[in-house]
Amino acid sequence: MNDFQYHNTTDIRFGRNHIDAELHDAVAQFGNKVLLTYGGQSIKRSGLYERVLKLLDGLEVVELGGIAPNPKIDSVREGQKLAKDNDVQVILAVGGGSVIDASKVIASARYYEGDPWDLVVKANGADRMLLPQLPVVDILTLAATGTEMNFGSVISNPETEQKLGTGGPQSPAVSFLAPELTFTVPANQTAAGSMDIMSHLIEQYFDKAPANDVSKGLIEGLMRTVIKWAPVALDQPDSYDARANLMWSATMALNGIVRSGNQNGWTVHPLEHELSAYYDITHGEGLGILTPRWMQHVLNEDTVALFARFGRNVWQINGEDDQQVALEAIDRTEDWIENLGIPMTLPAVGIKDEANFNVMATSAVKVGQLQTNAYVGLNVDDVITIYRES
Ligand code: NZQ
Ligand code: ZN
Repeated sequence: MNDFQYHNTTDIRFGRNHIDAELHDAVAQFGNKVLLTYGGQSIKRSGLYERVLKLLDGLEVVELGGIAPNPKIDSVREGQKLAKDNDVQVILAVGGGSVIDASKVIASARYYEGDPWDLVVKANGADRMLLPQLPVVDILTLAATGTEMNFGSVISNPETEQKLGTGGPQSPAVSFLAPELTFTVPANQTAAGSMDIMSHLIEQYFDKAPANDVSKGLIEGLMRTVIKWAPVALDQPDSYDARANLMWSATMALNGIVRSGNQNGWTVHPLEHELSAYYDITHGEGLGILTPRWMQHVLNEDTVALFARFGRNVWQINGEDDQQVALEAIDRTEDWIENLGIPMTLPAVGIKDEANFNVMATSAVKVGQLQTNAYVGLNVDDVITIYRES
């Protein structure tokens, strides 16, 4: 197990009865000038928008709506301006990962004089870790990213065709996790979100650090949970049990606990972020397409034992022969993804030629440090092969 420090102060309010009773004070503890952020129409359709505005009664609220999936730097720029012009003291983010991710960067940009894209790429001396950050309170409406209890954000810049991760000094101050708010998540986003959770677990399971059985054991339990409940949520969108298990799995998968003591070199995410940067596809769908191909590519005599452990402990596959169990585990993973209804090829999500494979692979290898940090080192040719096989 590697050395680590774990520190996370997000105040989690999980379940049915927190929002109405506690939202007002959870926000107002930081001040009365609030920036309310949200995405497209989903919170208006569900009635959540009206409900939240009523609960914020008495506070000064400015709004930033329209934050798109794969949030764009322009929304962050708008939020920076609103936060400064209105001397905002706290951000209330209501939505999925995209809304919360953008809000976290706005929280830093409030204290930055230049263009917030500098904060994402760390240009012009910009460093979010050295800036203050507005407190972010959120109401999560989609179980997927884990952003509700971590320090990360992923922001896209269509002008430069980049989609990059950035970390700040604080995770959200308070996160309201009310599973029934995800009853309205459509099937394709439920599938993509579940795949995202599964991928976060896979990225942290297939890790180079030695003898981290705590991480592996926690992850195996969380994987079995997602495997079990994602199909139930698709079948019965208003199953509280399914939505609750997915929501808490999403948070637990990426709040830093299961990664503690790991090496943490991720592979499939850097490959996927290039796809969404160039083609604006849904993150979880890209992960679903790439994951089985990546598994097939990295299965070898050094990795077979861990793939076999994954097969036995997660998929409950019996058998003495590690290679057989490993291959069956990869097949079962692929079938599970396909049965969620995720499109299983790049052409199926509109990526019909190889025009950008080279430039995307080069960027993925560099940004993800895939040659040095990945579970199995990959070079540009390896990544192109995985894209081609997808
Ligand atoms: O915009 P609205 O109208 O709200 O609709 C959204 C959006 O179209 C809809 N939706 C959300 N909650 C809903 C709902 N529709 C009906 N009912 C609800 N309750 O779902 C669509 C997708 O929303 P989005 O926020 O984009 O999804 P998700 O939570 O999967 O976030 C994806 C983004 O997070 C990044 C991804 O790359 C992507 O940009 N990630 C962030 C991470 C992090 N911060 O730690 C880690 C992840 O690996 C990931 O990269
Ligand atoms: Zn992800």
